[in-house]
Amino acid sequence: MPNHADRQFGIEIVGIGAHTPDKMLTNKDLEGMMDTSDEWIQQRTGIKQRYKADHEHGETVLYLAKGALEKTLANAKMDPSELDLVILATMSQEMTCPPTACRLTAMVGAGNAGAFDFSAACCGFVFAMNTAYGLMQTGPYKNVAVIGADTLTQSVEFNTHGRAAAILFGDAAAGVILKRTEDKTKGLIAQAMHSDGTRWDDLYIPKTKYDLNESDREGNDQLCVLHMNGAGVFRFAVGTFPHVIGQTLEAAGITADDVDHFVCHQSNQRILQAAKERFGLPDEKLHVNIDRFGNTVAASVPLVLNDLREAGRIERGQKVMFVGFGGGLTWGTSLWQI
Ligand code: COA
Repeated sequence: MPNHADRQFGIEIVGIGAHTPDKMLTNKDLEGMMDTSDEWIQQRTGIKQRYKADHEHGETVLYLAKGALEKTLANAKMDPSELDLVILATMSQEMTCPPTACRLTAMVGAGNAGAFDFSAACCGFVFAMNTAYGLMQTGPYKNVAVIGADTLTQSVEFNTHGRAAAILFGDAAAGVILKRTEDKTKGLIAQAMHSDGTRWDDLYIPKTKYDLNESDREGNDQLCVLHMNGAGVFRFAVGTFPHVIGQTLEAAGITADDVDHFVCHQSNQRILQAAKERFGLPDEKLHVNIDRFGNTVAASVPLVLNDLREAGRIERGQKVMFVGFGGGLTWGTSLWQI
């Protein structure tokens, strides 16, 4: 394993929290909106329900992120004024300008802490963890919040035409507080970040008609909704997801047995199952909560971490690998000794 005694600082995860909207949509609810069935959805994806933010009544991505950050700070027993930096991983930014993270920082009372939005689709949280670690090693930041928040239900069509995507996504926010520590054993052990922009249109949300790919111009030309090549993304995920885990284990010089938790992006139960089989992982090492939340994009990975915390399964000294894959296409990992 790489020797981290020469690290500048140890970095510790001192707080974990999550926030979901009040309104929940079950598969049965979706049956009333489109031609689908609870059985089809559960068989193909493992999803039973998901949460949907009520934008009209102010339940925006900012509101969800605020709820998550406040709960994460409470879990860390940290005052918001102690934060130096707030990174908000999202592809549901409220406006192009200002960065949603700036309003978030002001709303929780984190004063003039640095704040920026971070866009890497479903890899947002994982890539942001790697970025936060680097900034904390080289910059003056002692306490950093990394929040993943998304409201993709705003970008899917709840009708039969949009059903392949509509059943998959849910809204949520979750995250962590990172803190510098004297204990240099704590922090990032290995990481990977990859992309394939030639496959940009496997998952994309066009703003104008000029953004549409050639085949979508021929009729499937809705703007501001998610266009998804479901089967293509499925094949990509089943292949790259186990591969990037293997690459990261090798870089760290450890095996899957040495990792306590694989905290993975929840996009489809069958994709997670493929990774479990590839590494012979027992259920307790790869926690699945897609049945309760659906795919919550940048919130998905920290939502799993929050489940583990609530169940009392996160302990000091454990090794935790965060794993993401999604639009871009992007895929990557962040392996921590916590
Ligand atoms: N309910 C009922 N039928 C549906 C449906 C739904 N919600 N969505 C699609 N179908 C239909 C299709 O229209 C198709 O019908 P046809 O054979 O008459 O044309 C049939 O079911 C099979 O569709 P297909 O797309 O081949 O299904 P699938 O087994 O690939 O499952 C996904 C579809 C979307 C669940 C699956 O491809 C998937 O999970 N892909 C990955 C998507 C993803 O993870 N995106 C986010 C990445 S971060």
